Amino acid sequence: MNIGLIGSGGREHALCKKMHESKLVRKIFCFPGNPGTSKIATNIKVDILNFQKILRLIKLHKIDLIIVGPEEPLVKGIVDFLNKNKIKVFGPSKYAAKLEGSKAFMKMICEKNDIPTAKFQICKNKDQIYNFLDICKLPIVVKADGLAAGKGVKICKSRKQVLETSSEIFKGKFKSSNKVVLEEFLTGEEASYFVIVDKNNFKFFGSAQDHKRVFENDKGPNTGGMGAYSPAPIINEKLEKKIIHKIIKPTLSALKRIGSPYTGFLYAGLMIKKNEPYLIEYNIRMGDPECQVIIPRLKTDLVKIFRSIVNNKLKSIKIKWIKDKCMTIVLCSKGYPGKYKKNVKIKNFNKIKLLKNDFIYQAGTLAKQDQIISNGGRVLNVTSIGKSFSTIRQKIISIIRKLNWKGGFYRKDIGWRVIVK
Ligand code: AMP
Ligand code: GLY
Repeated sequence: MNIGLIGSGGREHALCKKMHESKLVRKIFCFPGNPGTSKIATNIKVDILNFQKILRLIKLHKIDLIIVGPEEPLVKGIVDFLNKNKIKVFGPSKYAAKLEGSKAFMKMICEKNDIPTAKFQICKNKDQIYNFLDICKLPIVVKADGLAAGKGVKICKSRKQVLETSSEIFKGKFKSSNKVVLEEFLTGEEASYFVIVDKNNFKFFGSAQDHKRVFENDKGPNTGGMGAYSPAPIINEKLEKKIIHKIIKPTLSALKRIGSPYTGFLYAGLMIKKNEPYLIEYNIRMGDPECQVIIPRLKTDLVKIFRSIVNNKLKSIKIKWIKDKCMTIVLCSKGYPGKYKKNVKIKNFNKIKLLKNDFIYQAGTLAKQDQIISNGGRVLNVTSIGKSFSTIRQKIISIIRKLNWKGGFYRKDIGWRVIVK
């Protein structure tokens, strides 16, 4: 079959590479893809929010199945649009995508279904902000209701900061929302838990831990993710049962009852405290960079899994994983997540020889003649599989040293919680 993959990051490069290994695949088209996907698929430059144009391309290239990587087209309804046009597509409907598209919606689902999560208040005005300030201890987490490209969350240590941050959101700092969600600050260890879902069933689809802060020792501002590893050792059997029974099942049942069953990847961002899970957020897609450490561990044909989901036959598929561990370190442009230069050549890129268990997924890159140049904040995801996180990390760092890219930086302490010095 012919596959269409929407997106252009490291996540999509990892998905593309895995699908390319499937015997079911004839051709893969990436909308728009990146220089990494161009080696194994056909990249087509297109605005991923221009659904009409994507539909024309799907028909032109006789694409049988569409996979959507990022959240924005999902939240804007690409699945409903393509389904209406009789195209098979993997991902949640516009309604179900509100689990990520609206933090207020996600919190209401939690409240109505007793799903453990931080105490919260949805605020439409200043009085409601004062109300919450009176009943909740500082720090307080201030969130914009809608999508904000990872910039809509601020942990505020003073009342003044809560008021200022909320006021910016009310004034329209994020176009997608002028509602504010205030939350109690949860402490503990974060982990990401993934399931893959069709209209009738769901299955485990990996666990990982991400490092959001830009600097070593988890210092500095939040980023999209500086590195990750899978599996997440913190998720033991007992905890997993709680995640499924207290969080995943009640959410999926709630959406079914509303008449909008969830399908696609579902990513639960969790805080773990004393072996109890609390839902911080839902994402309606694979994580980035979590996808880059989960997909290499997948043994089952990924296209077979996607095909079973769009036909609501997930039950008949057994999803298998290799026992080995996987880690990725994100090589970023100097200055990220603030201002950084673009178009910086990564001179040694073409000289790197990778072994079977090593991968470099491309994210913020462009190809110019035969050279790879940087084009974003998170540029390359250097990834490796092995028996211990400690040896994997050493291997990744040795590859990054060979790349010797003067325009970049990375965290050398990815996996610090699981690598005892
Ligand atoms: P979100 O976009 O909701 O995932 O938030 C981004 C990051 O902010 C999370 O990964 C957490 O590190 C942090 N965060 C969000 N909400 C909370 C909370 N209620 N308590 C503690 N940390 C939080
Ligand atoms: N790594 C966090 C995310 O994908 O949202």
